[in-house]
Amino acid sequence: PLPFARPASEEARASSLSLSHRPRRNRKAEWARRLVRENVLTANDLIWPIFIVEGESGRTPVASMPGVERLTIGEAVREAERAASLDIPAIALFPYTDPGLRDPTGSESLNSRNLVCRAARAIKKAVPDIGIICDVALDPYTSHGHDGLLEGERIINDETVALLARQAVIQAEAGADVIAPSDMMDGRVGAIRTALDEAGFQDVQIMAYAAKYASAFYGPFRDAIGTNATLVGDKRTYQMDPANSDEALREIALDIEEGADMIMVKPGMPYLDIVRRAKDTFAVPTFAYQVSGEYAMIQAAAANGWIDGERAMMESLLAFKRAGADGILTYFAPRVAEKLKQG
Ligand code: PBG
Repeated sequence: PLPFARPASEEARASSLSLSHRPRRNRKAEWARRLVRENVLTANDLIWPIFIVEGESGRTPVASMPGVERLTIGEAVREAERAASLDIPAIALFPYTDPGLRDPTGSESLNSRNLVCRAARAIKKAVPDIGIICDVALDPYTSHGHDGLLEGERIINDETVALLARQAVIQAEAGADVIAPSDMMDGRVGAIRTALDEAGFQDVQIMAYAAKYASAFYGPFRDAIGTNATLVGDKRTYQMDPANSDEALREIALDIEEGADMIMVKPGMPYLDIVRRAKDTFAVPTFAYQVSGEYAMIQAAAANGWIDGERAMMESLLAFKRAGADGILTYFAPRVAEKLKQG
C-alpha cells in the first residue's frame, strides 16, 4: 500500500507541507516511472569491440578484463553470428598482432592478409548483415606501441597520415563497412576520405575518434592487444589533455569538415560532459567508447561484491544515452543485449 494511494490521515494532513510540486508523484509506481522515462537503451545502441588473435581455434582470456577473451577468427565468426542474433548492429575488430610481426613502421598494417583483414573477410562472408568497424592506427603493429611513426622521440604526423590512408583502403577491401581512425593525427580523416573515394569506396563510412583523450583508462586494452609492455613513453603529443573541453569541440569540428560521418568521444564515463557538448553543438551521430578500464572497474568492484555489477552495467550505459550518445562501444554489449532480449 503506497502512501499516495489513499487520502492522508488527519494527523498527516496537519503536519504536511503545502507544496505545489511534489516530483515524487511521478515516481510512485513502476508504471508511472515508465510513463515519464526520457531515455531508453536498446540493442540498436550497442557496438561490440572484439579482440582477434592468430590460431586454429580457441580463446585466451584477457586477465585485466574479466569476461573478455581474444578470439581466433573461427571464434570471432561465431561471436559475430551471436551478435547478429542479438540485434547488435555492429562489431569493432582489434588485432593482437604476433610480436614477431611488429616493427618500427607497423608494416603489417599494410598487409592485406593480416589478422584483421582475414577476420573481416571471414565475418563479412558468414554474417553479411552485421556492420564491421575497423580501427585505423598503427599501435597494434608497431614495435614501440605508438599509433604513428616515430622519428627520434617525435611522432611524425604527415608521414603517418599517408600510411593510415593506405591502411584504411586495405581494410575496406577486406570488407570493413566503417573505418574508425583512432590515431589522433591531424588531417587523417580528410586523407582517409580521399583515399577511400579514389579506391571506389564512396559508401564506406568514417567514424572518427574525434575527441580521444590521453587516458589511464586504456590500460587493460593495451594488455589485450599486447602493447603495454612495449609502449615507449606516452601518447600525450597526439591524444588530448584530459583537462580540455573546448579543444574537443575544435577537434570534432575539423573531423566533420574533413568528412567524418560519425564522431566518437573516448573514454566514456569520465567524459560525458564532452558527449553532451558535442551532441548539442554539432547534432551529428555521436558515439562514446566505454573503454577497457571502465569495464575493468565495474567488473572488479562487482567481483568483490562492492557493487551490483548487473545494475552498474545497465546504469552506466543508460547514462551515455542521457548524455546524448547515439550509441556506445562497450565490452558489455553481448551481455546487455542478452538481458534486453530477455526483457
Ligand atoms: C589504439 C586504440 C586504443 C583504444 C582503442 N584504439 C588504445 C590507445 O589509444 O592506446 C582503447 C580502447 C579501450 O581502452 O578499450 N589506437
